[in-house]
Amino acid sequence: MTMTKKNILGAVVGTAALVAGTSCSDSKADEAMPVAGANAAIENIMTRTSVRKFDGRAISRDTLETIVKAGMAAPTAMNKQPWAFVVVDEREVLDSLGSVHPYSNLATAAAAIIVCGDMKNTIEADGRDFWIQDCSAASENILLAAHALGIGAVWCGVYPIADRINPVSHVLGLPGDVIPLNIIAMGYPAADAQPKDKWKPQNVHYNRW
Ligand SMILES: Cc1cc2nc3c(=O)[nH]c(=O)nc-3n(C[C@H](O)[C@H](O)[C@H](O)COP(=O)(O)O)c2cc1C
Repeated sequence: MTMTKKNILGAVVGTAALVAGTSCSDSKADEAMPVAGANAAIENIMTRTSVRKFDGRAISRDTLETIVKAGMAAPTAMNKQPWAFVVVDEREVLDSLGSVHPYSNLATAAAAIIVCGDMKNTIEADGRDFWIQDCSAASENILLAAHALGIGAVWCGVYPIADRINPVSHVLGLPGDVIPLNIIAMGYPAADAQPKDKWKPQNVHYNRW
């Protein structure tokens, strides 16, 4: 199901009311104090959607760096920041990546960010796999920052599929201890993309299942 922009705004107003504490049924709840720009931030989250067709305009290196900075602002377990970001804006490299990842949506993309886990910087032993969550948090920040800047993007999964990890690593010349989690294809959207409505109250449980 997709949401029209009008519906989304309704959802945002509802969410903003939640943020402000006005629709909370718990009478003991304190009034939330939204920070400046809270509604814009919630609206940005609610209107993001995957974009797979782009209009051919380039994205400046400054803008790409802003988006990567947003990625690096993500939380990580024990603040390990076990990541590396490969920014690709050369057509030849985008096409090489597109030829080894069948669903990477790079044909019309202006750029891609490959979010990688750096195994030299992970937590040891049992905590190692937190790198996946850390890099996923960075990836979502990247999607949201791109959307806020009017750039469309889509997360294209690489890890844990070996048939994608190996050729993507080869194309980018990644060292053996750096694992590509995804390819985030991006560009200015070719058309208006409608966000999907995923709100399912039945998936929420308070205090117990
Ligand atoms: C782990 C992961 C892997 C994904 N892999 C691909 C992919 O290879 N190709 C693609 O077109 N979209 C991919 N997507 C995007 C999803 O299809 C998309 O997020 C989902 O359909 C929900 O749509 P939305 O992003 O518009 O909310 C992936 C998303 C995630 C989180």
